[in-house]
Amino acid sequence: MTTVHGAIDAADRDASQSRVSALALSGITVRFGGITALHEVGLRLEAGEVRGLIGPNGAGKTTLFDVISGIRIPDAGRVELAGDDITGLSAVRRARRGLRRTFQRVQTFGWLTVEDNVLAALEWRSGGGGLVADLVSFPTRLTREKARRARVAHVLDLCGLTPVRQESAGSLPIGLGRMVEVARAIVDTPSVLLLDEPTSGLDETEAARLGERIQDIRAHESCAVLLVEHDVGFVMRQCDRIVVLHLGEVLAEGAPREIQSNPAVRAAYLGDDDGGHQVRTMRNEQGGNR
Ligand SMILES: Nc1ncnc2c1ncn2[C@@H]1O[C@H](COP(=O)(O)OP(=O)(O)OP(=O)(O)O)[C@@H](O)[C@H]1O
Ligand SMILES: [Mg+2]
Repeated sequence: MTTVHGAIDAADRDASQSRVSALALSGITVRFGGITALHEVGLRLEAGEVRGLIGPNGAGKTTLFDVISGIRIPDAGRVELAGDDITGLSAVRRARRGLRRTFQRVQTFGWLTVEDNVLAALEWRSGGGGLVADLVSFPTRLTREKARRARVAHVLDLCGLTPVRQESAGSLPIGLGRMVEVARAIVDTPSVLLLDEPTSGLDETEAARLGERIQDIRAHESCAVLLVEHDVGFVMRQCDRIVVLHLGEVLAEGAPREIQSNPAVRAAYLGDDDGGHQVRTMRNEQGGNR
């Protein structure tokens, strides 16, 4: 996939000439002092695809999300969004270009209502320009405001949040809080959506609803979804392909069934004692490059 640091090789480019990947990573390396959290990681995501990213605790999954979303600038490597190099762009600029994420620990504005949380994820597009601009463009703004509120209402409904829309987000149980975060991430029709352990804290019904939302988003809004999950059953059901990270490197990549039967993956991650369906979530006991 990659040759030298930061370079996507020519053959790879030729193969994808007809379409630009929604997201392309190459040579991503991140070090924390003496720890190499990611080592020359490469990955391509196409629009309309749901990709799973799995690996044991400490494998580097969240660090990779931080690099993609702009929270962390890598020590080496390149991040491309729809063919544009965004490696140096801030997280806000990436979000404006359609890259959205959710966090491993739910992050919402706890003091705002559920509805205002989701509205705020659209709000920054409103333009500004002050009082004069407000007066001149008042009718347009009113129409836009209506459209925004309708979109928010639709997404709240999709996410099962309509009954709690006036409650403060901070007062909700974790499962609903997570759905608020998902609603915030999808309300502005992202082109790339990163979900970090989205089923954590969800009950079965909520997880099923989340799965439906993921499938809607990719189908109707041709968004590329990258999904970090410890719930392997969920990953196997939702994803077209899976990438396995191990010690900060890509160990394997393939269709869910290929990953399940990949000997290296089985040896490293899948317990044969439970039929190979459970990723061990034990703490990484590796020394090596950590
Ligand atoms: N801010 C940081 N400072 C120092 N080391 C860090 C930092 N963030 C992550 N690491 C280290 O980088 C490695 C990768 O961590 P990361 O959180 O990306 O793993 P993960 O795959 O998301 O794990 P989990 O499944 O537990 O969420 C780990 O060894 C971790 O201890
Ligand atoms: Mg993590």
